[in-house]
Amino acid sequence: MKDEPIMGCAEENPEEKPKCNPFGTRFLTDDAKVFEHNAWDDVEWSEEQQEEAKRIVENQKTMKVDEEKAIKLLSSPADQWDAFYAHNENRFFKDRNWLLKEFPELDVNEQCNSKKEKVEILEVGCGVGNTTFPLMQVNNSSPRLFLHSCDYAPNAIRVLKSQETYDPSKMNAFVWDITQEAPEDAPKPESLDYIVCIYVLSAIHPDNIRKALSNLIGLLKPGGTLLLKDYGRYDLTQLRFKKDRLIDGNLYCRGDGTLVYFFEMDELEHLLAEYRMEKKVMHVDRRLIVNRAKQVKMYRQWIQGKFLKPL
Ligand SMILES: C[S@@+](CC[C@H](N)C(=O)[O-])C[C@H]1O[C@@H](n2cnc3c(N)ncnc32)[C@H](O)[C@@H]1O
Repeated sequence: MKDEPIMGCAEENPEEKPKCNPFGTRFLTDDAKVFEHNAWDDVEWSEEQQEEAKRIVENQKTMKVDEEKAIKLLSSPADQWDAFYAHNENRFFKDRNWLLKEFPELDVNEQCNSKKEKVEILEVGCGVGNTTFPLMQVNNSSPRLFLHSCDYAPNAIRVLKSQETYDPSKMNAFVWDITQEAPEDAPKPESLDYIVCIYVLSAIHPDNIRKALSNLIGLLKPGGTLLLKDYGRYDLTQLRFKKDRLIDGNLYCRGDGTLVYFFEMDELEHLLAEYRMEKKVMHVDRRLIVNRAKQVKMYRQWIQGKFLKPL
């Protein structure tokens, strides 16, 4: 696993427009200046670049992972993540401190509904709490927030709950494979204001994604929002996969056996439309990261979305 750098969102609905562009505003207008900064925002891909990306993925199909290994990895994806957290504990991912920049609605104090109302959030695939704790911290003074966090890796939940800042009066961390029925300690149906999915839908086999979405959407209140951030198709991390990594379609296994799928924006949008979720925002964040010392260009693509459950 490689950690994700800070990333930045464009809005479809003008009423949702944030005060500043959360995806950044450093645009590359002169190719000759590319190595003058570490990162460029909203970088369009040329046709050649898109063709090259397709060619790389076609080539990966000629060196797919061994079938027996693929079957083994697909049969127990939670075990791979659990082993990952048993080994790394809380030393791997960085805190997602960019969260409020992209999802300002998660600052419950900023919400215009009644100041007395509780706001219940579920963070899915929370790992060891790199989103949970920054979210708690930013809302610290607010007795309004109750934060549920789930992950299917028991070791992740163990590490999260062992943190000094874990406060059971305001937090509920529990083990749940979201492709299965919800356990008893999960939030009640139609009780949540927000569900946050950061790099988690990509960890699910495409055959199970509908079950996961249906389970999650069932927990949202009418009027509640699903917030998501995930890997986009042809992100650098997809194109860098070499031999024995491609399982099928756009699904890969990393060196540690964890799975990762690379979404097209339309694909996610259509999936959510099947559950009558209303699109508020959907954006591909295309960023060019530059290693100036080595003169290397790295093209990243992330999908960011906000979907409302209709009243
Ligand atoms: C790439 S990590 C992201 C962790 C965290 N959201 C973050 O951004 O730091 C994906 C996480 O999703 C969890 N996960 C994957 N599939 C899951 C499922 N079906 N149900 C619950 N958690 C899942 C993994 O255990 C892992 O912690």
